[in-house]
Amino acid sequence: MEIKKVGVVGCGAMGGGIAQLCAQSGYQVVVSEINDDFLKKGLASIDKVLARSVEKGKLAQADKDATVGRIKGTTSTRDFADCDLVIEAAIENLELKKKIFAELDGICPPHAILATNTSCLSIIDMAMATKRPDKVLGLHFFNPAPVMKLLEMVKTIATSDETVKLSQKFGESLGKTTVIAQDAPGFIVNRLWIPFLLHSIRLYEEGVASREDIDNAIMLGLNYPMGPLTLSDMVGIDVVKFVSDALYEQLKDPRYVVPTLVDKMVAAGWLGRKTGKGFYDYK
Ligand code: 3HC
Repeated sequence: MEIKKVGVVGCGAMGGGIAQLCAQSGYQVVVSEINDDFLKKGLASIDKVLARSVEKGKLAQADKDATVGRIKGTTSTRDFADCDLVIEAAIENLELKKKIFAELDGICPPHAILATNTSCLSIIDMAMATKRPDKVLGLHFFNPAPVMKLLEMVKTIATSDETVKLSQKFGESLGKTTVIAQDAPGFIVNRLWIPFLLHSIRLYEEGVASREDIDNAIMLGLNYPMGPLTLSDMVGIDVVKFVSDALYEQLKDPRYVVPTLVDKMVAAGWLGRKTGKGFYDYK
């Protein structure tokens, strides 16, 4: 089976980035949203990122046009009917994702692979909502998806070797380095990253150092591209909380308990860049 057409469920920060990346890599892409407003916003974000690359002289206008031309936006799941691979990047809600997988299973051709971009939810639960659990796996991209070099592949106990092999080839065709993890809480990256992130926030909460000094210490002392507080703002404080809570729920390990400050920030709507305020101000 050759993957030619890719479906992406969700055109938010992750889904939009994945759709852009696939189209830039030459795939025909169908990306869906729950309504026209969200779809318009998602497609406009993709256009803006590509336009910036053209302005910087890093992308030819003709290549931008060709990329945009390969992306079809839709609000109907029926448009996934001829996709060889569908990547679900909807909000992190297991019941919703199970519903999406069941629906995709009824619409997509029998050979199609169904993948989820979940950060932390159980993939076998999504696989069992379909009649093709051997063709279900996790394809976990990192934000911003077109730029980050890793694709974390997650296989459940039911995923076939063939599905893993095809997905790995697909990941490489996007220019990613792939790693393979089992369907265990947080896979590799979030299992290791979340305790570090929460510990950085605790240090700030305790007043051990300022936000700038914590970020600079990690950026310059460990050569990270972003400090942990800046990165939390980019990912979203609500996302940090959701992933941490989900991992704590599954592991019962106190290293995944969010600091009180995270709960307070979520309650205050200080969700990071997207709301104009997180650990830093973006207004
Ligand atoms: N979408 C697409 N492209 C983007 C982008 C976005 N949202 N943001 C930045 N870029 C592109 C820029 O256009 C630029 O491309 P170019 O080199 O072709 O001009 C390139 O990325 C570099 O951007 P900038 O020059 O503006 O800025 P930086 O050099 O500081 O890089 C960064 C920005 C790539 C975001 C870098 O700071 C970085 O790698 N930060 C860490 C990101 C990270 O750790 N992500 C993982 C988050 S965890 C996650 O996603 C897991 C989930 O489960 C929670």
